[in-house]
Amino acid sequence: MQTITGNDIQYAAGLLKSGDIVAIPTETVYGLAADALNALAVAKIFEVKKRPAGNPLIVHIADIDRVHDYVANVPDDACKLMDAFCPGPLTILLPRNKRIPDVVTAGSDAVAIRIPGHPLTLDLLKLSGLALAAPSANISGYISPTKAVHVDKMLSGKIKYILDGGPCSKGIESTIVGFTDNMPVVYRAGAVSISDIEQVTGKRVTAPSQEVVTPGSRFKHYSPATPFIVADDIDTEIMKHTGLHIGVITYNIYTELIDRNDQLLLCTLNDMNTASRNLYAAMHDMDERNYDVIIARRFPQAGIGIALNDRLNRASNK
Ligand code: TXA
Ligand code: MG
Repeated sequence: MQTITGNDIQYAAGLLKSGDIVAIPTETVYGLAADALNALAVAKIFEVKKRPAGNPLIVHIADIDRVHDYVANVPDDACKLMDAFCPGPLTILLPRNKRIPDVVTAGSDAVAIRIPGHPLTLDLLKLSGLALAAPSANISGYISPTKAVHVDKMLSGKIKYILDGGPCSKGIESTIVGFTDNMPVVYRAGAVSISDIEQVTGKRVTAPSQEVVTPGSRFKHYSPATPFIVADDIDTEIMKHTGLHIGVITYNIYTELIDRNDQLLLCTLNDMNTASRNLYAAMHDMDERNYDVIIARRFPQAGIGIALNDRLNRASNK
């Protein structure tokens, strides 16, 4: 199968309506999309990504008004969050209605709903009239794609079309929020922070209990093939690995201990949004350079830094 990259939403819509899968851009990461109501099309996503069947998919819709087409009821707090953050990097777990096939939710009664904040994909959703089930467009366990070329690297020959919307502006996956006993629960950190959610709902966010973490968080994630280490003090970590060929991912300043050609600086100043936008591209790039080990500097544990550290920890599988 030949994989074409382009920005033709008519063509993408045609493929999706005929049951094909298409890579789509979002503001967080690229997704691998299928018509959410077509169980056979959705099954192709699991096959191409090599995704475990027990890991459900997020359903992407065009606007808030369409949520009732797929969801049994929407709690007031969910309405408030949608009004505040959608379109945007937020996914909300809501009780599904009967139209959503089991394969999408892995049998759960909750469906994950998101309105992505990317103009090309919003146009595609409107033009096609479809809801699109889409996980990140990587092979399961590997680093999520934030550029069309990342998708091509992993899925070339396996899908017909990559809709190219340029580099993702946020760069890490959406925040996932659900409700237990009417209280908001954050299952995955992202660009929408816990304090954002507390401010809008006026309620304390709780952490999920062990039994109800989202299925996806049980799996190894976001991992380069090269051994990956996260450290607060990268110089100490570099010294522990003398003699090895080391790549460094850092921010603000270079370390003086290794050649600058072996380092990627995610941002200058303390701009963690820029760091977020650049992180996965840096991980893809470093993983192609045949280092013995990649050492990444941990971010300040505040704001979006919390979500970035979560991704670094998962990449190092700690
Ligand atoms: O930013 C994002 O959310 C991107 C873009 C493409 O929208 N998508 C994404 O999808 O990150 P994925 O499949 O890589 O991660 C979705 C996570 C998984 O951990 C999955 O288990 C969880 O959401 N999830 C999806 N549907 C769920 C459901 N019905 N109940 C609980 N967890 C769910
Ligand atoms: Mg993923």
